[in-house]
Amino acid sequence: MPANKPKFYLTTPIYYTNGLPHIGHTYSTIVCDTIRRYKRMRGYDVAMTTGTDEHGVNVERAAKKAGVPESEFVAKMAAEWKVLWDELGIPSDEFIRTTDLKHAHTVQWLFKLCRENGFVYPGHYTGQYCIYDNAYVDVKPGENCPDCGRPTETVTEANYFFKLSAFQKPLLNWYAKHPEFIQPESRRNEILSFVEGGLRDLSITRTSVRWGIPVPGEEPHVFYVWFDALTAYLSAVGGPNYEKQGYWPADVHIVGKDIIRFHTVYWPAFLMAAGLPIPKQVWAHGWFLMDAAKMSKSKGNVVTPRPIVGVLGMDALRYYLLRETVFGQDGNFSYDTLVTRYNSDLANGLGNLASRTTAMIEKYFGGSVPNPSDATKFTSDDENLDQQVRLRADVLARDETPMGALYRLEELDFSRALEAIWSFISSVDMYLTSTQPWVLAEDPTKKERLGRVLYTAAESLRFIAVLAYPVLPQTAEKLWKQLGQNTAIGSQNPSGLTWGSLKPGTKIEKPQPLFPRIEKAEAIERMESMENEPQKQSAPVTPATPATMLTAGGAAAATAPAANEKIGIEDFAKVEMRVGQIKTAERIVGADKLLKLTVDIGTEIRQICAGIAQYYEPEKLIGRKVAVVVNLAPRKLRGVESNGMIVAASVGPEGRPVLAGFPDEDVEIGARLK
Ligand code: MSP
Repeated sequence: MPANKPKFYLTTPIYYTNGLPHIGHTYSTIVCDTIRRYKRMRGYDVAMTTGTDEHGVNVERAAKKAGVPESEFVAKMAAEWKVLWDELGIPSDEFIRTTDLKHAHTVQWLFKLCRENGFVYPGHYTGQYCIYDNAYVDVKPGENCPDCGRPTETVTEANYFFKLSAFQKPLLNWYAKHPEFIQPESRRNEILSFVEGGLRDLSITRTSVRWGIPVPGEEPHVFYVWFDALTAYLSAVGGPNYEKQGYWPADVHIVGKDIIRFHTVYWPAFLMAAGLPIPKQVWAHGWFLMDAAKMSKSKGNVVTPRPIVGVLGMDALRYYLLRETVFGQDGNFSYDTLVTRYNSDLANGLGNLASRTTAMIEKYFGGSVPNPSDATKFTSDDENLDQQVRLRADVLARDETPMGALYRLEELDFSRALEAIWSFISSVDMYLTSTQPWVLAEDPTKKERLGRVLYTAAESLRFIAVLAYPVLPQTAEKLWKQLGQNTAIGSQNPSGLTWGSLKPGTKIEKPQPLFPRIEKAEAIERMESMENEPQKQSAPVTPATPATMLTAGGAAAATAPAANEKIGIEDFAKVEMRVGQIKTAERIVGADKLLKLTVDIGTEIRQICAGIAQYYEPEKLIGRKVAVVVNLAPRKLRGVESNGMIVAASVGPEGRPVLAGFPDEDVEIGARLK
């Protein structure tokens, strides 16, 4: 990565581990992933942090209820969260757990700085506390939490206080100097009036809670969960050594509107007190509501991502969440509107345009992109139609006009960016309807015109693929390949899109539907019944097994029998393993852990993805002999087909993969392992 790339750092909230991810959490993470992909395309060196917020009385109680120690409880939950993000293709660059040692050190360091600078003092506090929001609330004993409506508890304890009151002016000055700090505008106003109303000092340690990061030399004090959790953003990128990594201050914290105050009042105040740089922006998105209420486990109105992804695919979920609501506002979630969008915008819209264009190129030009020919050869009416498409494509790819999708992406105005792209899709559709290439094809003298029309449609699709990539990475990559492009779509700079760059003669791939149409009632029924199945464990709960078959992310793919359960030789014989030789190896853009390999297994060359990218240089693998499971059903990993598995040992607590091999004797390619 060239050293001169500007850095860009963004974060999702650090999620509580007392539940599993639902669509609301998935939304925050999808938003971040979209920004990450967009910024990478624009040439930034981007780091995205997510993680788990694992301390506090809530976890203490949940672990007790489950009858396990807190550390075990949170380890299992954190693994669930991490696996889900990996599985959905939205892994973080940094996954921080608030029980990580490096995080504890950062929290203790931040506290020390605040204390040395005179902003911490000891005291006592009595008040109503909401254990669900982890916040003292301004209500009388017996009253419920004004934010979430659940019962509060009276807590009296010795604490260390943070002099938040001293930061009223500095914060107001900061907001005035950096009007972009709090987004959207409505939230900014809300925070301004809150801070103008005066700030009370905040207790930042607890003696009534055991499960937390200890305050050094002050046990039994542990840190207040928000002092702890917010600091995770900094511990993920170097903590006390943040300057070395160069990502801090964060460019944007993406949060839900319920936690904006913690991020725009407490967090900058802690950092100011410590003399550390303040993040550049906090963006608060709205909530996804179910039946007009915020989704929450306690209300039982939760929708989770796996069933949707299983039935409609991840890109459909990403598209729906980002298209359906204006970023910053609340939105309603329903399976009905989800499937409607899927069928109308994805299957009939983008999918149909792509398949009719590629099918006609296949049929009329043998699968090669036709030559656009000289415009002067066509009637002025024809030329006008072509010109309109070209102009619209150019505007779409601009970042200085609100009509441009890039302008909207830059503004994090995802729904309008998608609206602009989809309105372009319908104008290209209309162009095909008016130019009627299928009629032109019947007249051999119109061959050049036909070529021009299909070139225009294919070139439009190239623009669409690049511009839609941040939101629809898997689909855009498929489309990119269908258009015969063999570069990495994730590193195309959308602002460099120039009309006419699609080379005539490029061989397109055989047309394949991007989004097969689906019957609404059936899709909803499938998603609902999957949602109602008992939650499956997806994350490995026990430490990594000694030998792991590597596919995506190095995760063991099959369900292993319990440790003491034996299998018969006939079971083992079902697995066909052969010696293979790696012929090519390359990184997969957007999948940091995966390498795409081609492997000679004696009878054929297979494409296999392996989760070893963080440990093996692709060039050094070429020629290496490896053990391959060859009779595994093919599957797609991050949109790339994988036809088999490479066997590796999983070493150490991180599960570092070490490829099984045959270094001492020469073995024949294709030999069976038994
Ligand atoms: N642990 C704190 C955050 C600490 S950040 C230093 C927390 N965790 S959370 O798991 O409860 O929520 C994480 C995020 O998910 C919040 O930003 C919240 O707004 C978001 N969502 C939870 N439910 C939601 C919806 N129904 N819709 C959209 N987002 C919502 O708060």
